[in-house]
Amino acid sequence: MHTLVMKGKDALKKGAELINVGEVVAFPTETVYGLGADAFNDAAVKKIFEAKGRPSDNPLIVHIADDSRLHELVTDVSEEAKIVMKTFMPGPITVIMKKSDIVPLCVTAGLDTVGIRMPSNETARAFIKECGTPVAAPSANRSTHISPTSAADVFEDMNGRIPLIIDGGDSQVGIESTILDMSTDVPTILRPGAITAEMLARVLGAVKTFSGKVVVAKAPGMKYKHYAPACETVVAKDAESAIAAYDTAEGEGHTPVIIATSGTCGLLENRTHIDLGSSDEEICRNIYAALHRAEKIADFIICEHLGDSGICGSVMNRVMKSAGGKVV
Ligand code: TXA
Ligand code: MG
Repeated sequence: MHTLVMKGKDALKKGAELINVGEVVAFPTETVYGLGADAFNDAAVKKIFEAKGRPSDNPLIVHIADDSRLHELVTDVSEEAKIVMKTFMPGPITVIMKKSDIVPLCVTAGLDTVGIRMPSNETARAFIKECGTPVAAPSANRSTHISPTSAADVFEDMNGRIPLIIDGGDSQVGIESTILDMSTDVPTILRPGAITAEMLARVLGAVKTFSGKVVVAKAPGMKYKHYAPACETVVAKDAESAIAAYDTAEGEGHTPVIIATSGTCGLLENRTHIDLGSSDEEICRNIYAALHRAEKIADFIICEHLGDSGICGSVMNRVMKSAGGKVV
């Protein structure tokens, strides 16, 4: 299959045409690029799983352009869910609610709940609107690889597997949406993101963070390997450990690279590094592009520990998975 990469209004029109004949199309969002299909078309949804190599027991989230389609998709919206949606949607959050009968089970992987997301990215919303149907979409990477934050990253994983990538430039947030389960008594964060626990607690009072052993996975995706670069990746607890790990790896004949904040990069002398910037937002925006670049220029990736709370805590949730939990 030939994979087109298109920009602008023509891209949206072509994308919507493809969606309406049951094809899959990659499109930009503010978090990461998504791989979309008509959420009501079983055969089209199956193509997403095929293109990604994704296990069929891992549900997809459903993207809407505005709340006009919301009530078709979910059975009841609690007062708390209304507050969350009013405060943070459109934006980088997915809210899990009880699904209605018209949401196909292949989208939710057999669950009685569905994740709803309204992106803030204008291209994403214009595309979904043009499609005229809710769009089921996971991140547009091959299963287990790093999520794409540019059309070029999508092309690398999906060339020859999908007909079209809509190029909307770089994703501005940079990591996947916060997933908030509102189908249970206490709202629970299943995946941290740019909308942090602190921000949610401000409007909700109580929020739980899902932690602990994933025996029966709450977000089924959590039990799978994730965000894995092509080469070995470790987290360094500070600049000193990063330098030590770099020098050891180089001594062993590896080609290492350090991914770090601007402050740390200033200490690395002539060691190969990728600068994430300084602010939380910059670090979040740049992390996946940095991992993508790192796996191309090196065979051993060392990422500095970026912090435990706020947005950087969410970034570290992904980096730890990339590193398989390995800290040096
Ligand atoms: O920012 C994002 O959320 C991006 C963009 C494209 O919107 N999408 C994304 O989708 O990251 P994906 O499929 O890569 O991750 C969605 C996660 C998976 O771990 C999945 O298991 C979980 O959400 N999920 C989806 N529906 C769920 C449900 N009903 N209950 C629990 N977890 C669910
Ligand atoms: Mg994903």
